[in-house]
Amino acid sequence: MPIIVDPHGYVLETAHHAYAIGLTPEKELALRYWGPKLPHRDDYPPLPRHEGWASFNGAEHVTPHEYPTYRGNKFTEPCLKTTFADGVRDTWLTFQRAIIVDEEDTLTLRFDDDHYPLRVYVVYRLLADIDVIERYVEIQNHGDTPITLERAFSAMWHLPPAGRYEMIHFTGRWFDEWQMQRDPLPRGITRLDSKRGTSSHHHHPAALFAHPHTTETHGECWFATLEYSGSWALLAEHTDFDTVRVSMGVNDWDFAHRLEAGASFIAPSVFVGYADGGLQDASQRLHALARRKVPHPQQLRPVLYNSWEATAFHVDVQSQKRYADIAAELGVELFVMDDGWFHGRSSDAAGLGDWFPDPKKFPDGLKPLIDHVKALGMQFGLWIEPEMVNPDSDLYRAHPDWALHYPTRARTTARNQLVLNLARPDVQDYLIDTLSRLLSENDIAFIKWDMNRNLTEAGWDGPEPKEVWWRYVEGLYRVWGTLRDRFPRVIWQSCSGGGGRADLGILRFADQVWLSDNTEPTRRLPMQHHYLMLYPPNTLEAWVTDMGWEQMPLTFRFHVSMCGSLGVGANITRWDDAQQAAARDLIAQYKAIRHIVQQGRVYRHEPDPRGGYYALHFVSADQRECALFVFRAYSPEPAHPYYVTVRGLLPEARYGAAALGISRSGTGWAHVPLRFDLQPFESRLYVLKAEYDGEYHDF
Ligand code: GLA
Repeated sequence: MPIIVDPHGYVLETAHHAYAIGLTPEKELALRYWGPKLPHRDDYPPLPRHEGWASFNGAEHVTPHEYPTYRGNKFTEPCLKTTFADGVRDTWLTFQRAIIVDEEDTLTLRFDDDHYPLRVYVVYRLLADIDVIERYVEIQNHGDTPITLERAFSAMWHLPPAGRYEMIHFTGRWFDEWQMQRDPLPRGITRLDSKRGTSSHHHHPAALFAHPHTTETHGECWFATLEYSGSWALLAEHTDFDTVRVSMGVNDWDFAHRLEAGASFIAPSVFVGYADGGLQDASQRLHALARRKVPHPQQLRPVLYNSWEATAFHVDVQSQKRYADIAAELGVELFVMDDGWFHGRSSDAAGLGDWFPDPKKFPDGLKPLIDHVKALGMQFGLWIEPEMVNPDSDLYRAHPDWALHYPTRARTTARNQLVLNLARPDVQDYLIDTLSRLLSENDIAFIKWDMNRNLTEAGWDGPEPKEVWWRYVEGLYRVWGTLRDRFPRVIWQSCSGGGGRADLGILRFADQVWLSDNTEPTRRLPMQHHYLMLYPPNTLEAWVTDMGWEQMPLTFRFHVSMCGSLGVGANITRWDDAQQAAARDLIAQYKAIRHIVQQGRVYRHEPDPRGGYYALHFVSADQRECALFVFRAYSPEPAHPYYVTVRGLLPEARYGAAALGISRSGTGWAHVPLRFDLQPFESRLYVLKAEYDGEYHDF
């Protein structure tokens, strides 16, 4: 049984790890232990006695509370901050009882405020096989007057004391997403957040905490990721007592939630884990987690074509058919029409909101194009941006009040568009109806769901205006979730002007995400490398393009995009016969290895910034096949070798790589380095296969 009740509290054991909690004398929940699973049950320590420090820091200030509230002599960052109807702002939660549901591997602890009718359930759910623990809270009002929540984070967790920690996180901006940062945690509070209504291009709602000596393959790390796509916050507090406490949840900036009598607030889940095999070990647990979330985890992703970078808004039935003809010849399986197809849309100045085909461009609707694409043996996909409206649209003229706004302020446009208020049920219903019609009237296998700006003038005329941020995201999830359930075969892509909404929350609705509008291959290499720290390759959509880098070898460009779910976004009408033939071969090669790439385990190699090298390999789920990619981006260094070993194979099976003329054991591949001397923009792809003649070779 993974949830163990012991004399000191509860021990949550996953396949390799353990998390032990207990109650303080005041009946508050605190951490006892987090790390590798220990051999004996009595190895798990009781809660240490936390002594106070002078009158300024009582014992409660230094106790590693699991869900601290703002109250008493405790001045570290709380998870919960409330205001009761009488103006009291302290919350004192004491333990009432624990509920263990074994079949669900769930431990729920109930806490009640000792004066007010506020109840909090702190929930732990074990994903034991992947060594991850899900945590969230449900906050209930059992009284008859509203209670205001001013912060309602999902969880707090504590790193083992006395360690030195670095925080690994991801920053960026539009066109420049997925930059990895690794910073020592300074004393004080480090805050990462988004105030934009989406998870954002700028910070990502996930982080890893590692010792300075932890590498890709060795050492311990602790990680957390939030299942939420709206404004969020992570606080990492390195205290004056040399402890580190980290909390995460819906952003409390411009946040208030009026918890009505009888109502409850469920915070989004945060998933935490510990790994002792380096960052790669943490990544594999995070990948397993994300694979459980996506709507179609087993389905191999088709190779797609999208003409956005080639045509921008200039799409019509004739020109799209021409792209489709060539795409089919290349071996593309899914033809996606991007922006520009709907009513009045010839630039970004008009049309958003009017989700029906533009009569000038598609006089007979989408059917003639869809039929053409299907006759070529491809599926059809379509771009939409449902949350947005251009002031120049029929929808806006009919419902100007549907856009987020303050009656007394000008409406800020960005890319000439406003944001529909998805917190409103009537807006949600309208989108569900409109998009359901689009999807039932047309044979659409794939939807690219875009969002090209952030929320401003977030007005809301409910009793608590600040609820709008939360309600917007709930509304988005309702719309997308309803469509996903009504049209279960559709594959969805989440895009937000590139990677503005590529998070675990959205991956419950979308199978894949768009990493960045920057498709230049040497910029993509680090972005993909970093994205793959958190998310699996079947969720990573990558196109081969030519927006000024057509001089780079086609093979290099393809290889970069073959490290995820391959797409082509180049102007293929300009490709000559030789380029088309090369592309056809590369797409065929990808199809032969995509099960390894998309469904396999990813092993990243330490990049070599001096030589411009990147490498990664994918090992199939059954460990019988492996695809190794090595790249050299531009580097002025002359000759510069790079060494690669191939980890993760079955140690005793024998694997051959025909193109290298090498055959050796899995242990051999892991320990005998391969040397690469590549030129700038040169890349290699090798496939290793276990040799089988009735029995895998034993050494
Ligand atoms: C965003 C997306 C692009 C493209 C355009 C269309 O920028 O990231 O891929 O779809 O919108 O307007």
